[in-house]
Amino acid sequence: MKKECVLVSGGAGYIGSHTAVELINAGYDVVIADNFSNSDMGAVEGVRRITGVDVPVVEVDCCDKSAFRRVFEQYEFDSVIHFAASKAVGESVADPLKYYGNNLTSFINVVSLMHEFGRHNIVFSSSATVYGEADTLPVTEQTPRKPATSPYGNTKQICEDILRDSVAAYDGLRGIALRYFNPIGAHPSALIGELPRGVPQNLVPYITQTAAGIRECLSIFGDDYPTPDGSCIRDYIDIVDLARAHVVAITRMVGGKCRKNYEIFNIGTGKGVSVFELVKTFERVNNLKLNYKVAPRRAGDVVAIWADTSLANKELGWHAERTLDQTLASAWAWEKHIRGIE
Ligand code: UD1
Repeated sequence: MKKECVLVSGGAGYIGSHTAVELINAGYDVVIADNFSNSDMGAVEGVRRITGVDVPVVEVDCCDKSAFRRVFEQYEFDSVIHFAASKAVGESVADPLKYYGNNLTSFINVVSLMHEFGRHNIVFSSSATVYGEADTLPVTEQTPRKPATSPYGNTKQICEDILRDSVAAYDGLRGIALRYFNPIGAHPSALIGELPRGVPQNLVPYITQTAAGIRECLSIFGDDYPTPDGSCIRDYIDIVDLARAHVVAITRMVGGKCRKNYEIFNIGTGKGVSVFELVKTFERVNNLKLNYKVAPRRAGDVVAIWADTSLANKELGWHAERTLDQTLASAWAWEKHIRGIE
């Protein structure tokens, strides 16, 4: 029987590469499309080594519609998972046109090409950032979105709206938006993981680079928040668990199991963890001491957010399975692997 094929745009990136692995493990064919602006072939090679499958990869910028059209002409996928986007919050404030141009153009192109070619299923990588500073915790999918505090966050909201309106207008198109909380960790093989360029903006890559001696000291942004230990609280979701959520979302669409043509699911653990707790867990699990200090609050940070995941649990049959200990061990194993540390 011919296998279902899934186009993974941004498939050489952090979440995309882990998702490609889980799709292949679940029996899907995968085509990776990536412009390699913030990724490299090493991730694709990691996917190939883990799976033993010579995954096809096309170097293409999804913003270039005629080049992107050729991918649709060449491959017979019925489903797309769209990761290709810029994701640095601070950079989006400094260069909003880059973010609106890139994230919106590539998404409009993918949806319109799916419509043009009669392709049916799309998963969009959304973010918990759409909730902003929520009035009640944990957040459910019904929790109202707050006005975005960065152009990056705004592109996530706008793309959700584009998807909602497009599935309502174009027959046969189905969409699922997955709102990720904070993805961390690496594949247990340590062959793929997060590889930020330059100074990491996110907590866990900063921690692992500090442990590796690349950064001198981790700054903990604020210890005077109204939380039990004064640091911010987030819902840290293991990257492999997150990748599996995409597989079940695709399987739901391919199997005709969607309740509505546009659905939204929170993808998190359902547990809030503070920055101090995360740092202490990293130290304990990996048996090392981290050099850190308390620094002023970072502009734009929300105090606390974590997910109510009951909808994904019930409808997708998906649960976060890996523990924070396992995830933080995998993050360190990956950092050691890429730095050649024993
Ligand atoms: C941000 C984005 C989110 C995006 C995610 C992954 C917002 C508000 N958040 O999440 O949309 O999906 O990145 O790209 O748009 N911290 C430190 N020291 C550091 C770095 C971080 O203390 O060096 C703290 C932060 O203050 C925060 C927590 O660690 O409390 C997590 O930060 P980070 O990993 O950057 O993720 P978010 O800001 O939650």
